[in-house]
Amino acid sequence: MATSTSGRTLVIAGKSRAFSASAEEDLLAVLRKKAGLKSLLRGCKNGRCGACRVLVDEALTRTCGTRLESLPEGAIVTAYEEIAKDPNAIHAIAIFEGSRPSRCHLCVPALGLAAVHLVRLGKRGDRAAVDEVLEGAACMCTGRASLREALLK
Ligand code: FES
Ligand code: FES
Repeated sequence: MATSTSGRTLVIAGKSRAFSASAEEDLLAVLRKKAGLKSLLRGCKNGRCGACRVLVDEALTRTCGTRLESLPEGAIVTAYEEIAKDPNAIHAIAIFEGSRPSRCHLCVPALGLAAVHLVRLGKRGDRAAVDEVLEGAACMCTGRASLREALLK
């Protein structure tokens, strides 16, 4: 039987909540199962797809293979389902929805989060910033070229 080995209080959707993780659970498992962040997916086994990404204190963070205890106490965790409701992000959502691939949608949390994050930073059109947010966010079905192009405009 798994034993609880670590704990953190995280702020998710404006609420402080205490979480624990067994030795077998990475941050992705904790956020999906215990915080109910179902946008997060385990898309790869090598840390390259980004389907598990969230913002931790406004930094894009991969959650697969990441330990709960590596986050600071009180860290603010923002997933795609929350950021997509941000009224200030409507424009970014439109960019993403207009350019995203429409096959399996595995890449929605990675690419959608990247698009909204970039626009909230005020860095749309900034080539280096676009490449930085898209780094580690893949679309295995059709690639991410159309979204990159849209973000560069
Ligand atoms: S599941 Fe985390 S990078 Fe692919
Ligand atoms: S539509 Fe399948 S990974 Fe992007």
